[in-house]
Amino acid sequence: MILDGFSATAIASAAQVIRAGGLLGLPTETVYGLAADAENDAAVAQIFIAKGRPANHPLIVHVVDAGSVAHFAASVPDFAKALIDAFWPGPLTLILPRRDGVAGAAAGGQNSIGLRCPSHPVAQALLQACLQAPLSSTLSPQKVWGIAAPSANQFGRVSPTTARHVQGEFGADLLILDGGPCAVGIESTIIDCTRGVPVLLRPGAVSREQVQVACGLKVLLKDELVSLDAPAPRASGTLESHYAPNAKVRLMDAPALQTALNLLSHEIDGASTGPTIAVYSRACLSTYSSQVLLKRMPADATTAAQQLFAVLRELDAQGVDLIWIETPPDTPEWDGVRDRLQRASAA
Ligand code: TXA
Ligand code: MG
Repeated sequence: MILDGFSATAIASAAQVIRAGGLLGLPTETVYGLAADAENDAAVAQIFIAKGRPANHPLIVHVVDAGSVAHFAASVPDFAKALIDAFWPGPLTLILPRRDGVAGAAAGGQNSIGLRCPSHPVAQALLQACLQAPLSSTLSPQKVWGIAAPSANQFGRVSPTTARHVQGEFGADLLILDGGPCAVGIESTIIDCTRGVPVLLRPGAVSREQVQVACGLKVLLKDELVSLDAPAPRASGTLESHYAPNAKVRLMDAPALQTALNLLSHEIDGASTGPTIAVYSRACLSTYSSQVLLKRMPADATTAAQQLFAVLRELDAQGVDLIWIETPPDTPEWDGVRDRLQRASAA
């Protein structure tokens, strides 16, 4: 069931669902999440089951503001405080040392916890409502300090950026708050703050450069972790193959794409009536074949990110077997989109 997330009664019902240990679809500015009370281990277990996600892959816990960090984190290094000041609420997740005994299931058993304060007004309204004392005495009198919410998609698949996408993943029974299409469109930037220096685990709308400027420290990449002689944390959003549509994705530069299109015969698959190959490129390309669907990628990285997952889903829905995508430029603003596409093509 999809409810208007901007209605106060929908927020009240959603808060009841969370307090009662249920799941729901929640809009954030990045992607939609599959949400539950972060400290209710049984509810969190349902998230892992619904997604088909291994139970040792930690979930991000969403908090209403910086004031809730101390409930989950044992300590916050100064550079992480600077990042909270600079980017919260917004698309930045910080991995911090976890307070003993708090949200162990959500953290996938790790001694760290991923915290993010979303800016989406519907997510903010739900977090506020959950933090307040419940109206009904039959429900848990505990405050809900945080909402665990991984992206609301089956494990390994494309993240949802609309309420309808979430419904497509989990069916009509799930309560989903509709907050409109997500403004950012790709998942939050993740910075590991447990290693003394900031480490980028997943690129997103907040760039590595912005993080460096805000905290005054060089941000290491995962591959540079060897020098810290510690194993990289488990992070499914950082698996090589992820974000995969059903069609097979291949990345090529524009000249290679045009060459490949020129080599195709007019009719690729005599049995098929619709398009069998989709091409998603910033460059203007041409084809002779009626079985090739050409689609233009926005020229700026922010708009491309906003539309990326919806386009992959739309091309899947058209039933193409292959999606050929122009490799995004090797510049910092394209880091997030390039990362997601590389992982989609690794599947
Ligand atoms: O934008 C987002 O971050 C979205 C929205 C819903 O907030 N959420 C999201 O969640 O992308 P998910 O679970 O699909 O990806 C979370 C990533 C995973 O790669 C997970 O392993 C990593 O965060 N993560 C969470 N807690 C962690 C921890 N304690 N240590 C290392 N990685 C962690
Ligand atoms: Mg995900």
